Amino acid sequence: MPLHVSSHPLVAHKLSILRDKRTEPKKFREIVRELTWLLGYEAMADLATRPEAIETPLEPMTAARLEPRVGLIPILRAGLGMVDAMLELLPTAEVWHIGLYRDERTLKPVEYYNKLPDAASVQVCLVLDPMLATGGSASATIDILKAWGAARVKQVSLIAAPEGVATLTAAHPDVDVHVAALDSHLNERGYIVPGLGDAGDRQFGTFAGPASEPGHGADGETAEVVRRLQRQIEP
Ligand code: PRP
Ligand code: URA
Repeated sequence: MPLHVSSHPLVAHKLSILRDKRTEPKKFREIVRELTWLLGYEAMADLATRPEAIETPLEPMTAARLEPRVGLIPILRAGLGMVDAMLELLPTAEVWHIGLYRDERTLKPVEYYNKLPDAASVQVCLVLDPMLATGGSASATIDILKAWGAARVKQVSLIAAPEGVATLTAAHPDVDVHVAALDSHLNERGYIVPGLGDAGDRQFGTFAGPASEPGHGADGETAEVVRRLQRQIEP
């Protein structure tokens, strides 16, 4: 699974604003959108084109048109903030939503929304989710897409943890992953460190209080799940 970590200075600059805990939801949403635009541009660099005969005002020429039909698959809810930017790049893309939330204790994804049609209607799927933490949500989504018939899948995230990259590599070695940064590790609650906190809460302004904060005291079962994930990447 090729992991592509953007080295673009604009990406690094915008990511530092996103990570800053003083960045309020309005600004946070703007930066998610701008980073998605930049990462989406990089993620689509290898899409196929087909020749098309056109005429400019000066003469006929053979131009290039994008070949595959592309589907955007935002994982609800945090992935929603990445959709508009991708649609600016790809106005004809289909958008298929998958609803998953991470059980806070087990860190396992729980599916709650999926209205994919019976057969795959696109050739390339771009899974959109700002955070690749344990990798559970991304792997489950890609399982669903492959069962649906998706031939080619790419994951576009803002920040990944090594544990999540390892999980996704093991489950889906064929999937390209594009991120703005690969961070250090997961904390005992399964949050990416240094990360940016909870991407959904920071976009939508839903802060439930100190007990739900990323650094708050770990549940024993959750900490054991994280330790298990960390053992798989130990040298
Ligand atoms: C967050 C994030 C990912 C998931 C990543 O969503 O947006 O979907 O966690 O974690 P994982 O790699 O360990 O699966 P969350 O479950 O908090 O739901 P939300 O988007 O509704 O806030
Ligand atoms: N989900 C988030 O929003 N942030 C993390 O660090 C991990 C999962």
